[in-house]
Amino acid sequence: MAPVKAAILGFGTVGQGIYTIVHERKQQLEKTIGTPIEIAAILVRDLDKTRPETPDVLITDRFEDILAIPDLKVVFEAIVGEEPARTYLEQAIAAGCHVVTANKVMYAKAARALERQAGEQGTGVGCEATVAGGVPVIKTIQNLNLANEVTGIQGILNGTSNFILTKMRKESCTFEDALKEAQALGYAEADPTNDVSGFDAFCKLMILSGLSFGEQPNWEDVPMEGIDSLSLEEVIDADRQGLRYRHIADVRRGEDGSIQASVGPVLIGPDHPLYGIDGVDNAVAIETAYAGTLTVIGPGAGMLPTASVMVEDAAMLLREHATFRELVTRP
Ligand code: NAP
Ligand code: HSE
Repeated sequence: MAPVKAAILGFGTVGQGIYTIVHERKQQLEKTIGTPIEIAAILVRDLDKTRPETPDVLITDRFEDILAIPDLKVVFEAIVGEEPARTYLEQAIAAGCHVVTANKVMYAKAARALERQAGEQGTGVGCEATVAGGVPVIKTIQNLNLANEVTGIQGILNGTSNFILTKMRKESCTFEDALKEAQALGYAEADPTNDVSGFDAFCKLMILSGLSFGEQPNWEDVPMEGIDSLSLEEVIDADRQGLRYRHIADVRRGEDGSIQASVGPVLIGPDHPLYGIDGVDNAVAIETAYAGTLTVIGPGAGMLPTASVMVEDAAMLLREHATFRELVTRP
């Protein structure tokens, strides 16, 4: 069978991870979907940058070239910021593609519109990588909300912040040195301001709120603080007292029905479920009506964890839509 054609927008940490996994998992994907996936094109901003070899792939800095690929079925989006990412995805959906994104800053605002547009077009949107990297928190919440009910969420949602806090506490590492290491490991954003100011975790929390409660709180009403407000002395002093700072995002429906949310560093003791979460790991404690609190934990950032959930999203979309096509065309 002819391969399914896919394009990758952005070829940094995440984009390169997608390319690697699609190649390393060629046979497994073919078995899962029924056809192989072929990366036909990659969009970058700077054509002169040195990049890993990608034989037989069109490398372009013009999105029109991506849309011109015949029979393009999947667009992976791994660029930075709200625009042009949102416009590219709208155009890809309009052209009949499934889209899979890792871009939480864009998706926190555009989730509903993109999903509506994809629903009208008969395509799908994959967004697992927008929250908690390789941790399947979105699928877990989607499943829980089929018959159970999510009542609250509390989590560590920024891998870079948790990595820095862990290095400060365990190794007395300075904030600056720990951040440099997080950047070198591909955890931090190219501009790490959103990581350390709390805005990255804020965007992820807004995505989880929309998913869990069908709405987001007013962004202006949500208190937001980052780990950049903490000093090394504060982190070490807390440790001496058996306490730890964690950057925690929390959202729940209040008694008056409104959505209450907060994002910031919190001092917690050993009895707290997020006390033992170290390094780049994220953890999301999901409170439910019927199953108590379920906690999912795993790598919250990094090339392969993030890329793996994006390729899984694409495989699921292709498989679901193939099944649907088979059902509706069956005599
Ligand atoms: P990155 O390493 O900085 O790579 C970004 C890539 O996007 C680069 O190849 C860049 O092109 C390209 N790009 C940026 N703006 C573009 C534009 N306007 N047009 C075309 N290409 C453009 O970033 P990353 O870490 O891979 O992250 C990508 C996205 O995934 C971000 O939204 C990030 O928040 C999200 N994410 C990252 C992780 C992670 O662990 N890194 C995890 C989850 C989600 P040039 O190379 O030519 O500059
Ligand atoms: N920079 C982000 C983080 C990447 O550190 O959590 C994952 O979204």
